Amino acid sequence: MSVSIQILKVEIEELKKKAAHQIKEIVFDNVETFRIKFLSRKGEIAILFEKLKEISVSEKPEAGKLLNELRNQITATFEKKLETLNQAKTESDNFVDVSLPGRTQKLGSLHPISQTMMEIEKIFYGMGFNSVVGPEIEDDFHNFTALNFPKNHPARDMQDTFFINEDILLRTHTTSVQIRAMELDKPPMRIIMPGRVYRNEAISSRSYCLFHQVDGVYIDKKVSMADLKGTLVSFAKQFYGSSIKYKIRPSYFPFTEPSLEMDITCFLCKGNGCKICKHSGWLEILGAGMIHPNVYKSVGINKNEWNGFAFGMGIERITLLRMGIDDIRMLYENDVRMLQQLA
Ligand code: DAH
Repeated sequence: MSVSIQILKVEIEELKKKAAHQIKEIVFDNVETFRIKFLSRKGEIAILFEKLKEISVSEKPEAGKLLNELRNQITATFEKKLETLNQAKTESDNFVDVSLPGRTQKLGSLHPISQTMMEIEKIFYGMGFNSVVGPEIEDDFHNFTALNFPKNHPARDMQDTFFINEDILLRTHTTSVQIRAMELDKPPMRIIMPGRVYRNEAISSRSYCLFHQVDGVYIDKKVSMADLKGTLVSFAKQFYGSSIKYKIRPSYFPFTEPSLEMDITCFLCKGNGCKICKHSGWLEILGAGMIHPNVYKSVGINKNEWNGFAFGMGIERITLLRMGIDDIRMLYENDVRMLQQLA
């Protein structure tokens, strides 16, 4: 049962050819396939080595020599190929195609709420107002008591206010900032106070647990209702368009006396009546009034020396209307596809 060296020689030659042919086909991803097939412990070369056992003693040395040569040759060619492949890979990794177009940077955009806020701020800056911000976590004094809310006022109910403890809460309006501003600064003052407010309301397409407001205060000597009206009308015309009509009607807020609310002709139906204005042709845009004497008292401003007005407006509703969105929650989901459309 011996194998003649002649047959072995033929097999060696065949394997040489086969390997030489396959080595040409090697690419970076199938290097291992070649190595396993030819050079591993169970590979084709190893199989030929197995046959040494069956070669006669006299021919063994020559057969061994031939097999060793075969293995060395294939190993050497394989390693050389590997080196070429590695070199090519490094070169392609480092290659910079300077003719490719540059990668453009994706730009973000301002959130619709920020856009509205900034537009409002710009208009008031034009009328000499400065911007002031205050804390979102407030105490009862700044949010309610100093603003002349009676102790049993329903707005203090757990229903509307997120209380942190008996005294600390999430502010329910930016009107709290006017108290902080009056504590820190002396009149005359002409400031707007933009910011985020929180209310414990059932979440729906129309209301959310947080939203934004801009409050304003103007305190000086001899500030009158006429100044208030002039400021509000000027703002409304700049913001909503010079052709809008407006309506000022009496209202009630604890921190102003007299108090008023301002409506403008619905800018969607131009006053003809639509779903948004509930077919009235009017939209309520803000609350305002002359600052209540009790408010001055709570911050130690002499009410006989100074007087002024205050106003406040919500940002969400007008943003929704202007952007043509019908669900307030969309402003808080941060869906990039939606934000990009409103950029
Ligand atoms: N704080 C009121 C609200 O949240 C809005 C408001 C009304 C603010 C009249 C004012 C004001 O400063 O004078 O509904």
